[in-house]
Amino acid sequence: MKKLVVGNWKMHGSRASNGELLQGLIDANLAQSAPNADVAVCVPFVYLADVASKLSGQSIAFGSQDVSAHKQGAYTGEVAGSMIREFGAKFAIVGHSERRSYHGESSQLVADKAKAALAEGLTPIVCVGETLAQREANQTEAVVAEQLQAVIAALGAQLADIVVAYEPVWAIGTGKTASPEQAQAVHAFLRAQLVGALPAAARVPLLYGGSVKPDNAAELFAQADIDGGLIGGASLKAADFVAIARAAA
Ligand code: PGA
Repeated sequence: MKKLVVGNWKMHGSRASNGELLQGLIDANLAQSAPNADVAVCVPFVYLADVASKLSGQSIAFGSQDVSAHKQGAYTGEVAGSMIREFGAKFAIVGHSERRSYHGESSQLVADKAKAALAEGLTPIVCVGETLAQREANQTEAVVAEQLQAVIAALGAQLADIVVAYEPVWAIGTGKTASPEQAQAVHAFLRAQLVGALPAAARVPLLYGGSVKPDNAAELFAQADIDGGLIGGASLKAADFVAIARAAA
């Protein structure tokens, strides 16, 4: 199976720098030079139109970094899945740890957002992960199970149509990557939870995120249950993101 490599630009960029970054990805001819990776970038809402036009006819998909749980209505500041989809976006990240912690998003809200994304034809990339304190207290499995359980309960048969990203909070933007063995262990646990809930969910891609770099991507991607990566900092440099996509063997 091809790996899925997704960039999460977070709140970075400008119209000019985004254009240069995307041009770098286009010039790398990823369809040929990284044939074992499906590649996407998840961008701030306001850039969806620019990104859609720049990536038109290219093999690189794109998405948003959040989506409203609501379909439409009086929700000032929210962006509906239908609006994101209208630009040709494929993905919507939901439940990133930065949203869970800085914006108080509960696992139930994240599950509702995943459901809203699916209803509009977007593939939600559902993020789960533990903090350092939780890992040290041996709560990693309990934490990710609770986060995933809300999604399992909300989605029913659509569980097979999502992407899950395991992003240990202590590894995000810190330069501390989970070891391939640590990541694999949690991925195997997540796979078992998914399959236990719905056999068809065996096909759900499980991405690892947290300080993925060109020099550690290959060994992470070599793990049995690591189907790709969600890349933050390294997705902002075309050369690094291209090298990560090419690490998918
Ligand atoms: P990082 O971020 O690659 O900069 O650690 C990953 C993420 O938060 O998605």
